[in-house]
Amino acid sequence: MHFLPDPIDPAVSRTALMVCAYCALTARHPAFAKAFRDPFAEPLYRLAAREGDALMERTPDWPAVERVVLAEGGVAATALTSVVWRKRWIEDHARRALEDGIRRVVVLGGGLDTLALRLAPAFPAASFIEVDRTETQRVKRRLAAQVAGIPDNLAFVEADLAITPLEAVLSESSGPTLLIAEFVLEYLPPEAVARLFGSFRPLIGAQGRLIFTFMSKPSLETEPLARRYAEAAEAIGEPIRWRLDPALLSGFLRDHGLRARDRLNTRVLIDSYLDRIGINVPGVVPERPVDTLHMVLASANHPSPSRSAGPSLSHKGRR
Ligand SMILES: C[S@@+](CC[C@H](N)C(=O)[O-])C[C@H]1O[C@@H](n2cnc3c(N)ncnc32)[C@H](O)[C@@H]1O
Repeated sequence: MHFLPDPIDPAVSRTALMVCAYCALTARHPAFAKAFRDPFAEPLYRLAAREGDALMERTPDWPAVERVVLAEGGVAATALTSVVWRKRWIEDHARRALEDGIRRVVVLGGGLDTLALRLAPAFPAASFIEVDRTETQRVKRRLAAQVAGIPDNLAFVEADLAITPLEAVLSESSGPTLLIAEFVLEYLPPEAVARLFGSFRPLIGAQGRLIFTFMSKPSLETEPLARRYAEAAEAIGEPIRWRLDPALLSGFLRDHGLRARDRLNTRVLIDSYLDRIGINVPGVVPERPVDTLHMVLASANHPSPSRSAGPSLSHKGRR
């Protein structure tokens, strides 16, 4: 079975905990640690996982990570290394957006990710909002307070995105917004994803940005590693529900008033990105990673300078 840790509370997302474990474990590899720094992942994982200390102590260095976690082979290696490049790519774009004047960052399905926790103190003029289901959100908030303290400009909102429209939990305000949906839309029913995409363009505003991931439909149907990941997710009650054919992406975005500004997938990875961030480590990074995970940075299709910032989001209540 693919490595999937148990949370202290069974209602907490196990996939979120798995990603947190990988963020902690990648710090054991010098090249990965240089490409992506997440000092809160390990303390968060230790507290959030049942026997969290035990796993961290059994993996004091990279050879131990390979023995204990990657021994299973393909899925774990692919999932673990993909955490490094995907989180680095998202962080670079988030920082750039903030430097370009984005004033609100909304992280959908944030799980145990620490991007907002790390960026909020560095960008005190911006506000940060994380949205996740109640069970995961409560544990995240409590443990984040313990390991990092909660910055004043970071709020945690509890909402089930499969049911609750974004507009019901996030109110409009002035200022361009960055929405981040990293590995969360995949777990929502397609009709909920359609509803969310219907709200994204008006909510980010003319100058706002959207970062999201999706899993490739053809890859999930044909690549054995992708199918094994999907089967493992289904077995723990977090099935992949939404997927998209990359060939249809442009039209899909256009239908929602958006266009892609940057993309990252396997082809781009092999061509340049892993080398650029210094993690093309032979024997660790799979030679031809499955072409399953796609990352997109999008913005309004027709940003109109005259409407400047346009509507964007603030949260309707702090929890
Ligand atoms: C694979 S984890 C990703 C976590 C985080 N985005 C990351 O990449 O580290 C999926 C996240 O989506 C959240 N999620 C799944 N279904 C959700 C829903 N219906 N409403 C809100 N959040 C949801 C889970 O609670 C979990 O935190």
